Amino acid sequence: MLVCYHEEQGWNMGLIYMDYNATTPTDPVVLKAMLPYLSQHFGNPSSSHVLGQRARKAVNDARMQVAVMLGCDPDEVVFTSGGTESNNHALIGALAANKAKGDEIITSVIEHPAILEVCHNLENQGLKISYLGVDSTGLVDPDQLPSLMTRKTVILSVMHANNEVGTIQPIAELARQAHEYGILVHSDCAQSVGKIPVRVDELGVDLLTIAGHKIYAPKGIGVLYIRKGTKVRKFIHGAGQEMNQRAGTENVSQIVGLGKACELISNNLNTYSAHMKAMRDRLEHALFEAIPDLRLNGHPDKRLPNTSNIGIKGVQAGEILGRMKKVAASAGAACHAQGNTISSVLAALKVPPEYALGTLRLSVGRFTTAHEVDQAASIIVETVFRQRSRKN
Ligand SMILES: Cc1ncc(COP(=O)(O)O)c(C=O)c1O
Repeated sequence: MLVCYHEEQGWNMGLIYMDYNATTPTDPVVLKAMLPYLSQHFGNPSSSHVLGQRARKAVNDARMQVAVMLGCDPDEVVFTSGGTESNNHALIGALAANKAKGDEIITSVIEHPAILEVCHNLENQGLKISYLGVDSTGLVDPDQLPSLMTRKTVILSVMHANNEVGTIQPIAELARQAHEYGILVHSDCAQSVGKIPVRVDELGVDLLTIAGHKIYAPKGIGVLYIRKGTKVRKFIHGAGQEMNQRAGTENVSQIVGLGKACELISNNLNTYSAHMKAMRDRLEHALFEAIPDLRLNGHPDKRLPNTSNIGIKGVQAGEILGRMKKVAASAGAACHAQGNTISSVLAALKVPPEYALGTLRLSVGRFTTAHEVDQAASIIVETVFRQRSRKN
């Protein structure tokens, strides 16, 4: 199952792909399940004839596969266009449906822009947003919550795991406190699903976001889990699809793909995460052995098993990435004509600038092989030494 199928498929163009947190390739099992719904089974699930019924069954089956993975009822699963829409729906929909309670949100400073930009937009409209800070490992301290919660707080939204550093938040504890205050709880689980267990009752959330393209399903499909009884206004208006929560003819093939991706996770999560952790640890071991002045950003243990965010002192991450053409990864700082901007997540963790500017996010996945890890490590080591010697 964990074979290096990508070399056979040729999708990696000779690249060593270490950017699984940006997006994942579509699992071939997922693709196979989808294909008939892009050809012969093209019916509209709302049609009463046999083609419609076929499509309706496929959507219902997929909803069940998501529900089994999350440990929820299928009618609590709403298909969306992806993580961004799910996050917008959760925050804006919860505010709109709970106006009588108030108009305040609590979130964290290290959320993805799909939460933070929604919040900034709402702030510009006069709403009050309170931000939980993080410590130097990226962890939110639940003891901050009591000072931020008010009678007017409608919803708390904290991501399960961070996309850059991988730090895993104490969602269950945050949810427990918020619920005592009658506050709804949303968690953006775009990065945690498929890497660590994500079960709605264990997390204690009312709303939860999944993004298909982070879990080996295609781009442009996602889920918003809405716990039964949670007051959330419809976000996209039109016909009555998705239990009247999200209008628009269902994206059947993508939904089938997402369902299959969730089934794979339900059946193989332990294998997947053990493999990712072994690859990630092998990579970190090789880099820390060979390169002096490295820094691991994020939490050493409470961290996604696939994510390695490494600050390399005295180099520019953009230059490193530009020079090592064979390794696909991400930088923790963006280079502009005006200078360098450190990512807001690394800034929130107070990563010293000399490390933040040289930070690489290396994220491995289901298809990463030990051979790729060893090759990537030696390319990174060589490139870093070359860059450092240029500077001296
Ligand atoms: C934590 C997190 N939330 C939300 C998103 C957005 O998801 P999508 O690309 O499906 O809109 C991402 C994608 O980068 C993410 O990492």
